[in-house]
Amino acid sequence: QVASLADRYESAFDIGAAVEPYQLNGRQGKILKHHYNSIVAENAMKPVSLQPEEGKWDWEGADKIVEFARKNDMNLRFHTLVWHSQVPDWFFLDEDGNPMVDETDEEKREENKELLLERMKTHIKTVVERYKDDVDSWDVVNEAIADGTPNERGLRESVWYQITGDEYIRVAFETARKYAGEDAMLYINDYNTEVETKRDHLYNLVKELKKDGVPIDGVGHQAHIQIGWPSIQQMKDSFNLFTSLGLDNQVTELDVSLYGWPPRPAYTSYDAIEEVRIQAQADRYEQIFNLYEDLKVDISSVTFWGIADNHTWLDDRAEEYNDGVGIDAPFLFDENYKVKPAFWKVID
Ligand code: G3I
Repeated sequence: QVASLADRYESAFDIGAAVEPYQLNGRQGKILKHHYNSIVAENAMKPVSLQPEEGKWDWEGADKIVEFARKNDMNLRFHTLVWHSQVPDWFFLDEDGNPMVDETDEEKREENKELLLERMKTHIKTVVERYKDDVDSWDVVNEAIADGTPNERGLRESVWYQITGDEYIRVAFETARKYAGEDAMLYINDYNTEVETKRDHLYNLVKELKKDGVPIDGVGHQAHIQIGWPSIQQMKDSFNLFTSLGLDNQVTELDVSLYGWPPRPAYTSYDAIEEVRIQAQADRYEQIFNLYEDLKVDISSVTFWGIADNHTWLDDRAEEYNDGVGIDAPFLFDENYKVKPAFWKVID
């Protein structure tokens, strides 16, 4: 039995993995129990999974994950109460079944806003009441910041934003706090939090929310990164910035792609991956975990967005940019669940 990741970092932070319900058994279940002390659902707790139709709830996959965490005494992250993606369409349809964004009448726009916020509150209340005793940290709002600067504050112009402005963010956190209680840890989660412009937009937003008394405890840094990007300094600056606001940091979706952006050309089989690339990835993981360990008082949890290279959303990305063929291999375990050089760097 090899050394355990969770044991190695026990005095520093949690080590987590994102899972689909079917990954809890067999070989992957064993790896989860041995190496991780925290889990999060890759898809099973998103709005489209939990409430595909208004008032019709599907708890099956989510319950399995909660059950697994309970049984194995693991911490649970919840992903995600509010997001612009993987939300069923009904959320954004008015009483007549028309898209809320198309409404031009001022009064009706105001009614739609109330309706949307009510739906959001009902969703949050129902989910939080069901899982509040099991969940340790909640992604309350995911990806509220845009990649560029579409407006002065850099807020993503999602349907949520178009209909409510920033109110959906405020109401989401207030509702989560109301039902989850004072001890729950509430996060705003995003990717590219290392990129200065986006980071600063997030910083300004969170600062303003805190000033207004909106209950927010921390920032989730997704960390979908690459071997050569972003720099360790950028990561460090970002953690420090949010720490200076009195917030916790969590690394929530870590993976280290073998490629730059776009992921092209991609390897088309695991056998084809060059050893130098795997070594570079290992060195990269070493630097990252050195940083995390240096900042351990400011980071409460580090979660990988998967377990082993045989299951990663990055495969879809590699395929998309390489005419349908391409794989990525971003984790510490290979496609056969064998430890990679990166694993030993993280342990040592
Ligand atoms: O469940 C359906 C299935 O019924 C259908 O047959 C199949 C056909 O495409 O699709 C299945 O849904 C897929 C779903 O994953 C479950 O496997 C969706 O197409 C696919 O788009 C979806 O991708 C997920 C993606 O979020 C959606 O945006 C990825 O698995 C998931 O890893 C990814 O996770 C996100 C985080 O939530 C937020 N941060 C970025 C991260 C990576 O994109």
